[in-house]
Amino acid sequence: MVNTLNATSPLHYIISGSFGSLSLFLLAFSPVNRTLSLVEQVPGEFGPHQYLAKNAQGDRVYATSEAWPPTLNSWSVEKASDLPWTVEHINLVPITATSGYMSVPPPYTHVYSVGGPTGEVHAINASSGGLGREIQQVLFVPESDLGQANKTGAALANGSHCIEISSRGHAFVADLGTNSIFMYTVDHKSGNLTLLSNTQSPRENDAPRQVIISPDGRVLYSVTEHTSYVDVYNVTETNLTYRQSISILPSNSSASNYRGETLRFYPPTQDSPVPSHLFATTRGFNASHNGFLAIFSILPTGLLDSNESRVERWQTPTSGGEANAIELKAKAKKDVSDNKRGAEGVWITLTDDETEAGGVYILEWNGEGTGGVNIVAQWSSEGGESIDGASHAIWLD
Ligand SMILES: *[C@@H]1O[C@H](CO)[C@@H](O)[C@H](O)[C@H]1NC(C)=O
Ligand SMILES: *[C@@H]1O[C@H](CO)[C@@H](O)[C@H](O)[C@H]1NC(C)=O
Ligand SMILES: *[C@@H]1O[C@H](CO)[C@@H](O)[C@H](O)[C@H]1NC(C)=O
Ligand SMILES: *[C@@H]1O[C@H](CO)[C@@H](O)[C@H](O)[C@H]1NC(C)=O
Ligand SMILES: *[C@@H]1O[C@H](CO)[C@@H](O)[C@H](O)[C@H]1NC(C)=O
Ligand SMILES: *[C@@H]1O[C@H](CO)[C@@H](O)[C@H](O)[C@H]1NC(C)=O
Ligand SMILES: *[C@@H]1O[C@H](CO)[C@@H](O)[C@H](O)[C@H]1NC(C)=O
Ligand SMILES: *[C@@H]1O[C@H](CO)[C@@H](O)[C@H](O)[C@H]1NC(C)=O
Ligand SMILES: *[C@@H]1O[C@H](CO)[C@@H](O)[C@H](O)[C@H]1NC(C)=O
Repeated sequence: MVNTLNATSPLHYIISGSFGSLSLFLLAFSPVNRTLSLVEQVPGEFGPHQYLAKNAQGDRVYATSEAWPPTLNSWSVEKASDLPWTVEHINLVPITATSGYMSVPPPYTHVYSVGGPTGEVHAINASSGGLGREIQQVLFVPESDLGQANKTGAALANGSHCIEISSRGHAFVADLGTNSIFMYTVDHKSGNLTLLSNTQSPRENDAPRQVIISPDGRVLYSVTEHTSYVDVYNVTETNLTYRQSISILPSNSSASNYRGETLRFYPPTQDSPVPSHLFATTRGFNASHNGFLAIFSILPTGLLDSNESRVERWQTPTSGGEANAIELKAKAKKDVSDNKRGAEGVWITLTDDETEAGGVYILEWNGEGTGGVNIVAQWSSEGGESIDGASHAIWLD
């Protein structure tokens, strides 16, 4: 299926989940040809998979599932140098409530997941790289309420939604239901979490959905689902101190027509000590409202530059449906050798769940003031199976 495979044409591999299909979709992006092709529809029994994570090498993939009963799943990726890559299921582990987010932080020994009333820590099986034993279950409802709590994917809309771990050994959970962010210490040996504090969102009914933490572990950014703000906090030893809010939306848009979605840093590389920009997306409430991708400049203080003339906003091709999730990949030199531009900038996956075909877009951004965001390639159902509502697409190399 990959007709772009040859030594002179580098490929970047992407794996996408779906809201409508049980499968995962392995795609290949050719930066030179600017095409996106289906490599393999990974046979699916355990999905739909709405959120994906990977290990350091990108040869193990972990995903949440909307199937009942709730599980987490793992796969291995065979990265052949002269053949299309292949993906194989390793195992699944049962969990109490449907999860919507996973995080695999360095040193890549544990997987953290949350969704609705519960979250969990699993060890990674050192021999298979799959999911090992459960270390801990954490609760976001009183223990006495867990029995009656809704444990389906519906609970993600009013419960825990994201977990991220900082370089300082803190874990943060964004929780829509309690309109707050939980902070924990992480025992790096066991992976165990211990609650430190809970910080309310600055406005009622914000519904914090995702958080990311600066590489030095000192500043946290949160995106709110109901109000489409990015909030900025300082991270102290024990809590979060609120500093700033800035809207993803242009000033003439009504927040009630949108639902905040994703945050990512630019440049995206793990070893970049100081990100220069923050990317944030929001989804349209329905097909009448296309979503937005906003790019904010990060000041040396960690605050976002609130000068509107420095905020870049790009309207997404659709509302995004349940998706409009992004992942960034730094451009490689070989990607742009025939291009006048330098090797700066990023490729971006953007997932679309609104349209029938529901596909994955590849976007590019080459730095502030260089022409904004552009669509480079799109994969939907042409010549292949429909992704049936792409959920989240991650870069594997
Ligand atoms: C780890 O994976 C191996 C297969 O590679 C399996 O034999 C073993 O039982 C697994 N251990 C746990 C704790 O799941
Ligand atoms: C969970 O909530 C959804 C949406 O409100 C509802 O449709 C579903 O029946 C609930 N499931 C259970 C088991 O309570
Ligand atoms: C949402 O979750 C909060 C906190 O768990 C709970 O108090 C509230 O009743 C829930 N709201 C709905 C509509 O389920
Ligand atoms: C994990 O953390 C919980 C909550 O802080 C604590 O009760 C438990 O003893 C810890 N377990 C381990 C193995 O450290
Ligand atoms: C946040 O941290 C910065 C840098 O340490 C400091 O200058 C600033 O006063 C802090 N702001 C708040 C609200 O704590
Ligand atoms: C948050 O942490 C700071 C620094 O440790 C402390 O001064 C402040 O009192 C704490 N705030 C709350 C609400 O606990
Ligand atoms: C908001 O302003 C932009 C740019 O001026 C314009 O293109 C857009 O149509 C406006 N949107 C609404 C909802 O008025
Ligand atoms: C979106 O929602 C609004 C308000 O409920 C409604 O008027 C409009 O027709 C909806 N658009 C679509 C395409 O469903
Ligand atoms: C905002 O940025 C523009 C362009 O860089 C600059 O001309 C303007 O003075 C800035 N405004 C403020 C209030 O700093």
